[in-house]
Amino acid sequence: RIKMTVPRFRAQKGGAPLVCLTAYTAHVAHLVDAEADCILVGDSLGMVIHGMDSTLGVTMEHMIMHGQAVMRGASKALVVVDMPFGSFEESPEVAFRNAARLIKETGCTAVKLEGGREMAETIRHLSARGIPVMAHVGLMPQQMNVAGGFKAVRDEEFWEDVIADAKAVEAAGAFAVVVEGVAAELGEKITRNVSIPTIGIGASVNCDGQILVFEDMIGLFPRVPTFVKRYGNMEDMMIDGIQRYAQEVRDRSFPAVEHTYSTKKG
Ligand code: KIV
Ligand code: NA
Repeated sequence: RIKMTVPRFRAQKGGAPLVCLTAYTAHVAHLVDAEADCILVGDSLGMVIHGMDSTLGVTMEHMIMHGQAVMRGASKALVVVDMPFGSFEESPEVAFRNAARLIKETGCTAVKLEGGREMAETIRHLSARGIPVMAHVGLMPQQMNVAGGFKAVRDEEFWEDVIADAKAVEAAGAFAVVVEGVAAELGEKITRNVSIPTIGIGASVNCDGQILVFEDMIGLFPRVPTFVKRYGNMEDMMIDGIQRYAQEVRDRSFPAVEHTYSTKKG
């Protein structure tokens, strides 16, 4: 496989579905890199690995540290790093400063930020100055305090807003857009109405690509939103390993001779 670039990713609109997964660590990035077109260092890491209740507490330092780890494990996939809450909303200038930091300090290729029409000016500012932007519309986890939780957009009353958001980020120069938590018909409608790839997460099979949080997909995180399909049950394997280790330490069957160094004589 050849290295994925922003123009290649964008050009795959309407072609082979784009395979995207999150990764927060080097080894997972290395494993995911074997199949994925894009690896997202999502701010979901605040919840998935730092135990936060939302993504609002995630900092630039978190994103930089995990972005660096992922870059050490990835080689072919396009690596995109999320802009955390508070790092881009204030002004296009603040957004540029922080996005540039993510690019310079991690070596990633692009950034992702949540927002539609209200972020169009910022997306235009970054895209015109060397920073490719993946947008994110529909269910936006960083808006959870306004929305009163993580709420999928199903009510037809709000469809036109999300379509307008997707069109606005496209016009502003976003190279792709994540569409999260929307009715299947709306996911399809957005995909038909923009010329950039739509990456769905709970947005139907008709999107140009799909993304899931790695830990959700392999069964390593307890939440199970409708859009998650479990392709494994790593949590059960881990619990089993922990229990057997604890048992063997307690009954002194671990470490055995083969795990023990003999004395080197002389
Ligand atoms: O933070 C994240 O993991 C994301 C994806 C689920 C799209 O934004
Ligand atoms: Na995110």
